[in-house]
Amino acid sequence: MSQIQVAQSKLETLKKEALEKIQAAPSSQALYQVKVEYWGKSGHVTEIMKEMAALPKEDKPGFGKLVNEVKQALEEAYVKAEDGLKVKEIEARMQSEELDLTLPGVPRAVGSEHPVSSVTNEIVAILGRLGYSLRQGPLIESDFYNFEALNIPKNHPARDMQDTFFVDQTHVLRTHTSPIQVHVYQSEKPPLRLIGTGAVFRCDSDISHLPHFHQIEGICVDEKVSMADLKGTISFFVKEFFGASLAVRFRPSFFPFTEPSAEVDCQCPICKGNGCSLCKQSGWIEIGGCGLVNPKVFEQSNIDTSKWQGFAFGFGIERMAIIKYGITDIRLFPENDLRFLGQFVTGGAL
Ligand code: DAH
Repeated sequence: MSQIQVAQSKLETLKKEALEKIQAAPSSQALYQVKVEYWGKSGHVTEIMKEMAALPKEDKPGFGKLVNEVKQALEEAYVKAEDGLKVKEIEARMQSEELDLTLPGVPRAVGSEHPVSSVTNEIVAILGRLGYSLRQGPLIESDFYNFEALNIPKNHPARDMQDTFFVDQTHVLRTHTSPIQVHVYQSEKPPLRLIGTGAVFRCDSDISHLPHFHQIEGICVDEKVSMADLKGTISFFVKEFFGASLAVRFRPSFFPFTEPSAEVDCQCPICKGNGCSLCKQSGWIEIGGCGLVNPKVFEQSNIDTSKWQGFAFGFGIERMAIIKYGITDIRLFPENDLRFLGQFVTGGAL
């Protein structure tokens, strides 16, 4: 036998062997092993190419072509066998791994509104039923809107009531939502029933004060507005929000932008008025201030004070949430600990 004949018959034998093994492979994994053994990178058929070096020159191209044809034939047989095996394997898996529809599902963490957002939305909805609609204002205010236009002149001791973060000489992180009143008086015509909400900032931090908290401002301007309207509105709103069980009281107070002014207290939900650390033993928690709009504020915005009167109120949203849910430390709100926030999720824990 010539050299080429030897090589050819060796190739034929390998092909026959490989085809038999392909047919007999019991699994796609075993099948792959056949591929590795015969026409993988260092498989027998691949290796036989090395013998080409010893062949006479004129036999080389023919032999190379033959090797490639064998490889191709093996690959085709492989793909066909693999298809068949895969189908069988899937069928076997479907039989053995029966799907148990009664097993509990994989629980997924569900996000939820932050309690500050849900309390804000609730307050907006209650006041919405009284005809109040929502406005917003900038977080960085000029000295004019935050103080001056609200009758808090420069160097006036009333400025000390609010420890302020100054951005520059004339701008501050707003210390309250009352500047929204001024924006509204300048851009809308009475009669008005509006609320403003959002973040406010003060250089203050302890168990019942945060440097970054939220307020809601209520504004009512009409032709005949009295303290009785203010008291009626706030009492209704507080009862709707907390339920009838917590008492409300009004204490005479002072704000430069209202005259007369009052502070609104709600009975402490923890001790029900007996005195505890949250209410500093007083039995009451302050939720905000209110009063009849000082005519000086209206005059700044050219509202005719002989025709229009108004009342305004400003409440701390975290304070209201604390009272409603009996939370003992206001600093829990910005911490964003999921163990705290998860307690406010309706319909399941986080
Ligand atoms: N802006 C006041 C504060 O943050 C709260 C306040 C008091 C708002 C009286 C009002 C008001 O609208 O009438 O301390």
